[in-house]
Amino acid sequence: MPEFTHTGNKKKQYVQEMFEEVSHKYDFMNHLLSFGLDYYWRKKLVQYSEVNSGHKILDVATGTGDVAFAFLKKHDVEIIGLDYAFNMVKIAKFKAEKFGHSDKTLFVQGDGELLPFPNDSFDRLTISFGFRNIGHYDTALKEFKRVLKPGGQLLILEFSEPKSKIFNGLYQFYFKHILPRLGALLSRADAYRYLPESVEHFPPRDEVCHLMIDSGFEKAEYYDFTFGVCSIFVGYN
Ligand SMILES: C[S@@+](CC[C@H](N)C(=O)[O-])C[C@H]1O[C@@H](n2cnc3c(N)ncnc32)[C@H](O)[C@@H]1O
Repeated sequence: MPEFTHTGNKKKQYVQEMFEEVSHKYDFMNHLLSFGLDYYWRKKLVQYSEVNSGHKILDVATGTGDVAFAFLKKHDVEIIGLDYAFNMVKIAKFKAEKFGHSDKTLFVQGDGELLPFPNDSFDRLTISFGFRNIGHYDTALKEFKRVLKPGGQLLILEFSEPKSKIFNGLYQFYFKHILPRLGALLSRADAYRYLPESVEHFPPRDEVCHLMIDSGFEKAEYYDFTFGVCSIFVGYN
């Protein structure tokens, strides 16, 4: 029996309130619990995005802005980061100032299911460890498609279930037994029970691709890495 709700407005409300509250510890916990692999995974997202100088990128569920900063390490692009949780956006803005990226970034509070941008605005739309947390996947995907330019690409970075049985056993043990205990010690306990449960309830890889196609993307494919712990889904507009 699941402890949390994994779809709809109740999920949306819980997720927003939870991220508002854990925002000040988010970066620390992220780097610690992923053994620093989160940097590598976002670097992969940048690689798969195949962006060119001058591209306009929207990073939905931007959190504290790390995807935007990973892009700016490699490319001369303009990035808007949007997140539902006001406190996460505040930290992203603070980091942009600190890293000297304020001229290339704009961080705004907003809902990924109702984007405050005109049609055909962006060359790339990224969402890293955020799509799983969205209340209504189909509504969000339609919005992502709407704001992408023709020929633009959607890139979703998300946790997946490792395909190797042995590795999956280790991963499940860490995710279900170690991570929630560390989370409870160092941050808000329910947030680190929600995380593994939300990954378990996230649709399988093929289903995510079908959702993208059903929302109007011409083609959808995925790439696995780190033994299938993470996947990048690419939707072509
Ligand atoms: C796990 S964090 C990921 C942050 C960042 N992208 C990263 O890679 O570290 C998930 C984020 O999704 C945001 N989020 C969840 N639902 C959202 C929605 N409907 N619209 C915008 N942001 C949302 C949360 O507020 C949270 O900051």
